[in-house]
Amino acid sequence: MLEPYFYRDNELTVEGVTLADIAKKEGTPCYVYSSAAILERYQAYDRAFGIAPHQVYYAVKANSNLSLLRMMAEAGAGFDIVSGGELFRVLKAGGDPAKVVFSGVGKSREEVEYAIASGIHSFNCESEAELALINSIAARHDVSARAALRVNPNVDARTHPYISTGLHDHKFGINIDHVKEIYDRAAGLGHLKLEGVSCHIGSQLLDTKPLLEALDGVLALVEKLRAAGHPIQELDMGGGLGVAYTDEQQPPSTETYIQLVCKKTAGLGLKLMVEPGRSIVASAGVLLTRVMYRKTTANKEFVIVDAAMNDLIRPALYQAHHEIVPLRHRDAVTITADVVGPVCESGDFFARDRELANVFSGDYVALMTAGAYGFVQASNYNSRPRAAEVMVDGAGWKVIRKRETFEDLVRGE
Ligand code: LLP
Repeated sequence: MLEPYFYRDNELTVEGVTLADIAKKEGTPCYVYSSAAILERYQAYDRAFGIAPHQVYYAVKANSNLSLLRMMAEAGAGFDIVSGGELFRVLKAGGDPAKVVFSGVGKSREEVEYAIASGIHSFNCESEAELALINSIAARHDVSARAALRVNPNVDARTHPYISTGLHDHKFGINIDHVKEIYDRAAGLGHLKLEGVSCHIGSQLLDTKPLLEALDGVLALVEKLRAAGHPIQELDMGGGLGVAYTDEQQPPSTETYIQLVCKKTAGLGLKLMVEPGRSIVASAGVLLTRVMYRKTTANKEFVIVDAAMNDLIRPALYQAHHEIVPLRHRDAVTITADVVGPVCESGDFFARDRELANVFSGDYVALMTAGAYGFVQASNYNSRPRAAEVMVDGAGWKVIRKRETFEDLVRGE
């Protein structure tokens, strides 16, 4: 896998660009993405399927910047969306509606209407009531809408509880034991094409075991559905693998995972679908921030940076680990400190008791592996304008989202 971020002459670079140059020119906090890394990670999925019929649907929620979506569309990606807003972004970026799947547990009437009018490929449905709604809207449009039930296989993804979705205790999907009866009943609805099943048990999975266990359950279900006369042709396996936020966490490669899936599904005549987000964009992106102050209390050292939980909420929300490295490597001296932002909450931290480079006021650091679920989860909390986003492409870069201004903060009020 391409590692786009590395030191050259003690300066952290990406695709030949020195990150400190971007920080100086565009200011901080600032998200930076490597287009080469994003494309490489997308293509790894696409290639891994080989000759098996398939489509990769990039999970827009991981990073929905229009420039990034446009790049993905040009590379041939489909899109997994979870809201009308995400559909709007995909269409605006030139995405093909015929390569869009709509997931999510609470699609509104307006969103279903918009998706049907746009001609999306399929809905991943999570309740019988939702199927009925889609059927009635499709009838009004005089079309037949493709839908797949999202199966809840009761498999523990063994990931952070907030991003685990495959147990019967979770709000997601339909209990695998009830899926067939719902297909049987829904077969009578005249404006649905029920040709698929989908399943997503969680995010940031570092092990293929739960994924393959869920797949076994779903394949047994496919057999049962087919035996009952339901023409199941598509299998959507949900999100992709997790990523290595630290050296200790090493997920299997995309090729390994997809080849295991292909082996299990060979000869079944199923179109394979996958909705990766994190594994395509996480390690392709960083959040650049500037050290503002250092301060020492009775028993702690604090490094106060100009990015905060409103820019990257993952540490506060999921106890997530992001490596923090200096943009200029000075020497081997390290400190142990809490790295925190300016927001008025003790939950506003990026790292606690972390050993990191001996950085000083004015130095820049990068929060690594921040390309997924970073900017998309940013807010204006504490009336902080959201950060700029930059895409690096070869030796150049361009701002793909301007830093917000104070005027942006009050627009609409
Ligand atoms: N498909 C569905 C139905 C999903 O719910 C998700 C993620 C994906 C695909 C993409 O999964 P991925 O390939 O990225 O693992 N904000 C959290 C992650 C939330 C994931 C939600 N669903 C975080 O920062 O870790």
